[in-house]
Amino acid sequence: MEKIFKKNICCIGAGYVGGPTMSVIALNCPDYRIDVVDVNKERINSWNNIDLSKLPIFEPGLDKVVENCRGKNLFFSTNIKESISNADIVFISVNTPTKLKGIGANYASDLSWIEASARQIAKYSRNHTVVVEKSTLPVKTAETIKTILNSSKEDNTNKKTIKGNKTFSIISNPEFLAEGSAISDLQNPDRVLIGGEDTESINLIADIYKHWVDSKRIITTNLWSSELSKLVANAFLAQRISSINSLSELCEETGADIEEVSKAIGMDSRIGSSFLKTSVGFGGSCFKKDILNLVYIARSQGLEKVANYWEQILVINAHQRDRFSKKIIDCIEKNNLEPKVLLLGLAFKKDTNDTRESAAIYVANNLLNSKIEIGVFDPKVNINQIQFDLSDLNENYDKTLVKFIQDPVSNISNYNLIAIMTEWDEFKEFDWQYIYSKIKKPAFIFDGRNILNIEKIKKLGFNYTGLGRK
Ligand code: UDX
Ligand code: ADP
Repeated sequence: MEKIFKKNICCIGAGYVGGPTMSVIALNCPDYRIDVVDVNKERINSWNNIDLSKLPIFEPGLDKVVENCRGKNLFFSTNIKESISNADIVFISVNTPTKLKGIGANYASDLSWIEASARQIAKYSRNHTVVVEKSTLPVKTAETIKTILNSSKEDNTNKKTIKGNKTFSIISNPEFLAEGSAISDLQNPDRVLIGGEDTESINLIADIYKHWVDSKRIITTNLWSSELSKLVANAFLAQRISSINSLSELCEETGADIEEVSKAIGMDSRIGSSFLKTSVGFGGSCFKKDILNLVYIARSQGLEKVANYWEQILVINAHQRDRFSKKIIDCIEKNNLEPKVLLLGLAFKKDTNDTRESAAIYVANNLLNSKIEIGVFDPKVNINQIQFDLSDLNENYDKTLVKFIQDPVSNISNYNLIAIMTEWDEFKEFDWQYIYSKIKKPAFIFDGRNILNIEKIKKLGFNYTGLGRK
């Protein structure tokens, strides 16, 4: 006999947010049925692959969670219509990239996928459906969703949107997980934020999280506060990184050491120590997009100074990538070296196969524009993805200048220069003594993550250039 579930949840979008979030909900709520649907058949097939190493997303611990729940109360499919029809709650976890054309181009988010999802919900849902915004969205997106769901009249007494005999409530429940630590972030969230207009629907969503999250950590707000809080949280985090990165340049000029400065200021409990690690620049699908959104919203309200303030975060981020690239280019020219660099890491941070907005791709592009050959290695990013990312930045990039390296250590004798782009643990653990014995001399390391021990590396004979330290 088929199991009867207490609630049916449908999640539209089986990506970096939808996949892990729904897996953890399924793990903690065995009494709920979760259907994750996507238009991308190939992605769904990967989610259903018996070989758990072939899941479309690499996230530590995700395979175990999927193994536990898949086929029991967690299902991945392309049955969008059926899953929406059966759902009490529909999460929207689709992509919201920055718009490339039209009003707000290069700043505002492209809501096509959100709108398409809302149209699907309007069409296939039955009875009352609670629609939850999970993707990061510009403030007031709920209004757009409502307009689509809403036929004409709104029942102002209980704030439920009415379309024929169907009713909808909109909830904003932004996701704060970080890639690479998604499962532990989902299992132990600092807070769960639920924004909405009717208490019944807010409680319905809170009930999901109460299965494993302490009620004190579940906070409720109005819709717009919830939407804005997500953008602001990301903007604040990115702001800290750009602040420390801007100071890394100042350290290089003054002889201060950015790692020492970070530690010294981070021990002030009012400042706190997280997100003060200097790097070649932040990446990921959220920070840039969310700041652009914030800037766009401020500017569209006529708040030019506010918009300019937040936009500076992106200016510094691009500057950090460019000045790191320039150090490498200058080194090749000054030392008259063969124009070849081995890039270690393409992912935007360790423990993920995601390369969206990765600083490594921008640096690779800068090097290619200077006719420098790049050898690229990342433990989790595949060749197709790298080719896609490079052509996304420059359609006509010189493919003959890109070599895909399977084993960086055994290929090292072809290079004078190594640039560390992602802080993968395995790079720290490389046998640097052996590498020094094989690499061409003079040997240079550009450490875009400050992960190596300077003293040890210099002692081996490498010329070392980190960020914000000599
Ligand atoms: C971020 C937010 O942390 C998360 O709450 C939100 O839901 C999505 O956006 P994510 O992009 O997955 O998560 O990764 P995060 O750990 O925030 O790192 C973003 C970028 O900043 C990475 O490129 C990382 O290497 C860089 N970073 C982070 C630094 O350069 N220095 C730091 O101190 C921290
Ligand atoms: P995120 O990082 O926000 O999770 P991703 O790009 O990883 O973003 O995932 C979004 C997913 O949403 C993609 O797999 C995409 O195919 C899917 N998607 C987008 N629009 C729809 C739609 N209307 N119906 C079903 N799936 C959709």
